[in-house]
Amino acid sequence: MSYIARDDRPADKAARYAEVKAEILAVLEGEPNRVARMATVASMLADAFPLFFWTGFYVVDETKTDELVVGPYQGTLGCLRIAFGRGVCGTAASTRQTQIVEDVHAFPGHIACDARSASEIVVPVVDAAGQLIAVFDVDATEVAAFDAVDAEALERLMAKVFAA
Ligand code: SME
Repeated sequence: MSYIARDDRPADKAARYAEVKAEILAVLEGEPNRVARMATVASMLADAFPLFFWTGFYVVDETKTDELVVGPYQGTLGCLRIAFGRGVCGTAASTRQTQIVEDVHAFPGHIACDARSASEIVVPVVDAAGQLIAVFDVDATEVAAFDAVDAEALERLMAKVFAA
């Protein structure tokens, strides 16, 4: 089905995002369960982009609303909890702004769940009411793996899957 070579850095990332987005939306058609939607997004994106070393969600804890707890993901063991404002994920949650970090070792307060992670993107995830429900985190073992193309594609995908 996929005609795009599965190298580590796709020549046309935007095209690959468009392709996988259509596949994700087709799979999720009619499925309202949020865990199922998150698990499907994490699995299909991780499979579409070999560069993605850790791919998944930290969800806003239902009882402690200033803390994230790990949700569906693909990759090596992730930290279980991250306070708002801490690390890249906690910064994305508290600012509600996408964070692109070219070198995680230069990011103040970066939380190293796996020492192999070198760069990272974290996108806030909101529901249809505009409430923050999670952040979506992707780590890569190469520095500077993510740019504005990833940010835009992931922001649009999260809006379509969780806020539409
Ligand atoms: N590095 C992240 C923590 C989550 S993991 O990388 C899976 C951070 O600083 O928020």
